[in-house]
Amino acid sequence: MFKPFHNHEGPEKRTPQARFFIDPEYFKVEMNRWFANRWVNVGRAEEIPNPGDFILRTVAGESVLITRGQDGTIRSFFNICTHRGTVLVENVKGTAKSCQFSCPYHAWSFDCQGKLLGAPGMKEVDGFREQDWGLRAIGCETWAGFIFVNLDRTPALLADSLADMPSKFVNWPMAEMQSAACIEYDVKANWKLIIQNYSECLHCPSVHPALARLSPPTSGENDPPNSCYLGGRMSLNDGVTSMTVSGSTERPLIATLDETQLRHVYYYALLPNLLLSLHPDYVMTHRLEPLAHDRTRIFCEWLFETNTISKPDFQTEDAVAFWDMTNKQDWHVSELTQKGLSSRGYRPGPYSNREQLLYDLDQILIPKD
Ligand code: FES
Ligand SMILES: [Fe+2]
Repeated sequence: MFKPFHNHEGPEKRTPQARFFIDPEYFKVEMNRWFANRWVNVGRAEEIPNPGDFILRTVAGESVLITRGQDGTIRSFFNICTHRGTVLVENVKGTAKSCQFSCPYHAWSFDCQGKLLGAPGMKEVDGFREQDWGLRAIGCETWAGFIFVNLDRTPALLADSLADMPSKFVNWPMAEMQSAACIEYDVKANWKLIIQNYSECLHCPSVHPALARLSPPTSGENDPPNSCYLGGRMSLNDGVTSMTVSGSTERPLIATLDETQLRHVYYYALLPNLLLSLHPDYVMTHRLEPLAHDRTRIFCEWLFETNTISKPDFQTEDAVAFWDMTNKQDWHVSELTQKGLSSRGYRPGPYSNREQLLYDLDQILIPKD
């Protein structure tokens, strides 16, 4: 394949070489590095509220079964039968009847806690013990209503990957909030470009004029970077109460937020794949599912407090329409960047001081070579 130009030495911080975004082989390497042995967000606990409920997700190319057991605990497993390796569940979402999964091949059956319940034809086999052949479990933990899985054989605690995020965002009651809208996007751009784009507002005046009218593009204040998350906050203009089409909201503001939190929107990328945008009256999330070096599926959800959702005049449209428009603007420039990175003419370019988070992100995500 085409070998990119080397990063020329210079006084400025520069963008990475193209191969980290356009090389399918490198994509496999980084799926192993960033998705096969770290805590990856796979959705919300509210998606599987009852015992037997399940969802399938793809993580680092693996089909992962996430299900709630009869004890109420959410667990995850490799979605393959322990008999001969056949894919166990085909529907991407559903409820297992009687909390049991039955293999479509020879009908081995498993309960929602992964235990093997029945294995036709195996009784006569000397030494065969059902307790040895349960589904192979994957690390699974929740925080703030988000489900995370970790394919590593001996995963570290999720808490270590969250650092101080739980205390930082304790005032948004995310565990109890519920999704009232979801839009799925198929974006022809590398997953890192999506996070890069999310991490700067230098592009806001040109790409998002409507956003720039609500929140000053230069108001960003970023936290010092760390290997778990990157982000910061931006202020709302006087008279603006939330990021919506009108700049105001009829929804009650989240009562537990302090004065400062009510006047800002907090934008954080929890590596590798969850973007959290915390507003005065709702939380928007983006879950990234990298499909290829040049393609990312993105699920955008809007979470609200349950007592807000239950109000007769509750609607999501003002927030959803605003961010759907903004999302599409972001995906467009991300796709243009993906295309440009494939050009023979590309060479690393200089970052501005307002793209410091991107440089920090490069230091975390992109290996030195
Ligand atoms: S492969 Fe599943 S029962 Fe045989
Ligand atoms: Fe943007």
